Amino acid sequence: MIHIGKEENKLLKEASKAMGTAHVLWGFKVGAAVLAEDGKIYGGCNVESWISGLGVCAERCAIHHAVLHGNKKIKEIAVVTDIKTESETKPCGACLQYIFDFAANPEIKILMAKVESGKVLFETLKVKTIRELLPEPFKK
Ligand code: THU
Repeated sequence: MIHIGKEENKLLKEASKAMGTAHVLWGFKVGAAVLAEDGKIYGGCNVESWISGLGVCAERCAIHHAVLHGNKKIKEIAVVTDIKTESETKPCGACLQYIFDFAANPEIKILMAKVESGKVLFETLKVKTIRELLPEPFKK
């Protein structure tokens, strides 16, 4: 089991809470939460459309939430999915690029875990840096 701090614990819990508000039509629920430069946590959920590309992933929703509140840099991000969702909990390629774009530095951590009945399953927690998950991001 990976040991995390109080703030990371809170980040995962907020991601789990945000997952509860996901708008799902054809996929599965995802929750995310970012720790922003103002020290606050901003949640996000996936919002689907019948036209798949029109919706938004939870990670980008959380980043938009932070930007809306004046934050252009994030210090950490948590992503969660339900235990019954078979897919691995991890940001998609588009979200990895987005996380990189708004990351305070390339070592920021991405916390990924499963949730059961709203509770974070800490034994499923994985922690990677954005550099590990996206070693060659696009940058002009
Ligand atoms: N999804 C996310 O919210 N984050 C990801 O990084 C992976 C995929 C959403 C998109 C869609 O609403 C559902 O999960 C199934 O792909």
